[in-house]
Amino acid sequence: MKALILVGGFGTRLRPLTLSVPKPLVDFANKPMILHQIEALKAVGVSEVVLAINYQPEVMLNFLKEFETKLGITITCSQETEPLGTAGPLALARDKLIDDSGEPFFVLNSDVISEYPFKEMIEFHKAHGGEASIMVTKVDEPSKYGVVVMEESIGRVDRFVEKPKLFVGNKINAGIYLLNPSVLDRIELRPTSIEKEVFPKIAAEKKLYAMVLPGFWMDIGQPRDYITGLRLYLDSLRKKSSSKLASGAHIVGNVLVDESAKIGEGCLIGPDVAIGPGCVVEAGVRLSRCTVMRGVRIKKHACISSSIIGWHSTVGQWARVENMTILGEDVHVCDEIYSNGGVVLPHKEIKSSILKPEIVM
Ligand code: GDD
Ligand code: MG
Repeated sequence: MKALILVGGFGTRLRPLTLSVPKPLVDFANKPMILHQIEALKAVGVSEVVLAINYQPEVMLNFLKEFETKLGITITCSQETEPLGTAGPLALARDKLIDDSGEPFFVLNSDVISEYPFKEMIEFHKAHGGEASIMVTKVDEPSKYGVVVMEESIGRVDRFVEKPKLFVGNKINAGIYLLNPSVLDRIELRPTSIEKEVFPKIAAEKKLYAMVLPGFWMDIGQPRDYITGLRLYLDSLRKKSSSKLASGAHIVGNVLVDESAKIGEGCLIGPDVAIGPGCVVEAGVRLSRCTVMRGVRIKKHACISSSIIGWHSTVGQWARVENMTILGEDVHVCDEIYSNGGVVLPHKEIKSSILKPEIVM
């Protein structure tokens, strides 16, 4: 089987992290986002993943080379010279997606995190015999997504409305599709939206089916949702009683600590924290609801909550970092500094406190 991941644009909403790497390579729970997807695809027998990309393909390919061999999967890029939206890239990659088997292929938005129930989706797709399957999930605020109105009992989609202004329902497109090759005959090679131009037509012909996604789901393309997504992800690890979660007197709730990270005496860590490879967390540090990426040093008695600390940054002793502070790569927060929602670009040194949420250039 094959899969295409819509890697797309610049990831502006996840700056400053995406100033260092393309969005799919930003770490989530100690692993680049896209690896969560590729590993799950591999687990259901996908042998080739096509990355539909219009920005920095070399960076992606260089990075993923190592994992091609490790995972035994082929990863190729299909590069656009202009952004082709969410459907155009499928037309561009047509030859890569079609083979003699006539099998359906997966399409994923690159910024969604879930337990990826691909196996269940394949079974669902076979059972309904339609042309396309999409995963849907319930959310409180459907207007920022694609909303699906479906016949619950059989899963057939009656209507697909992208970003509706008026309420039509609370089941939304989760950005995970399984499509028959015939869907490609519906897509022209031009900038076009699968949500606005393709799905509504397949739905009108009663050939689009939706499966309610079991387990959690989150679009982690924005800091707040990223932090919520980590909580949901760790919670699902807990439910599977995963041995990956840390334990001990200094751990509160669900916490992931890379085995190469060092944690000092008297720390209190959790809930909902991920600490990446090579990190050094000195004595007496307090961490909650945050991500600390590879190579970070947190000095004595610093306190971090609801924040993301980018690769190789340092947080000084007695510093207090909170309220959606996002430090880019290689940022240095001096001792005793307070950051209330500071968004700090890579390679900066923060010598005075950031008292209200703002971007530090
Ligand atoms: N290759 C390529 N080219 N990829 C693109 C382009 C493009 O021109 N434009 C967007 N993408 C990729 C993005 O990188 C992302 O992985 C995916 O297509 C969806 O784009 P977003 O910009 O993240 O869309 P959204 O979050 O507003 O809405 C989409 O996702 C929701 C779920 O999170 C839609 O699919 C909604 O229907 C859906 O509910
Ligand atoms: Mg998105």
